Amino acid sequence: MADLRTQAKWDKAAPNFDIMAGKGAEERWAPFKTELFSHMDGNILFLALGTGLDIATFPTGKNITAIDISPKMLEVAQPRIDNYEGTITAHAMDVHDLDFEDDSFDQVFTSCTFCSVPRPVEGLKSLRRVLKPGGELFMFEHTGSRYYPFKVMMTLMTQISRKLGPDMNRTTVANVMAADFEVLEVNNLFLDVVKTIKAKK
Ligand SMILES: C[S@@+](CC[C@H](N)C(=O)[O-])C[C@H]1O[C@@H](n2cnc3c(N)ncnc32)[C@H](O)[C@@H]1O
Repeated sequence: MADLRTQAKWDKAAPNFDIMAGKGAEERWAPFKTELFSHMDGNILFLALGTGLDIATFPTGKNITAIDISPKMLEVAQPRIDNYEGTITAHAMDVHDLDFEDDSFDQVFTSCTFCSVPRPVEGLKSLRRVLKPGGELFMFEHTGSRYYPFKVMMTLMTQISRKLGPDMNRTTVANVMAADFEVLEVNNLFLDVVKTIKAKK
């Protein structure tokens, strides 16, 4: 069944997302995203494209399939998609209900996605299904923290943030393991709150 509630939430966020996302954070994160996305190779699935802010950090010349649950986010992304020096084919699609064959992709990339996907372990299992055996998962994600007082603060913040957008207290590394990926690498970039994760099917 289509998740119209999640779609509506992100459709509503679309017009102001670029302001909400914060230029400062995007600038600080850009070098780490650029490094992570430099590994793009082969048949690539990108989740979730949002308004396309990540595109500026993609290597050129790639052929990328991108999805997002929100058609309105993708509408805002369209000029960035058009300006990309390579090919991005974008689809409005829910990660819980991927319209791709099993074992389709060499790699999956995510960027600030699993703070937002409503059922993260199921969403990750869905990505695992469409990855080829031995296929790679590369993630740039913000998560909750193990450390007091951040853990408490982020749990409280989530009560508000999830009404308009993402959760702030996700346990994404544990979720990746729970979805039966082999975690190869975790790099904590800002405390243990912003990180890159590399995993394998
Ligand atoms: C915090 S935004 C990040 C967007 C972009 N990667 C960026 O960093 O600017 C989260 C995105 O996840 C998308 N999303 C949430 N749930 C989803 C789902 N179930 N399937 C696909 N996309 C989803 C939202 O529409 C939104 O565009």
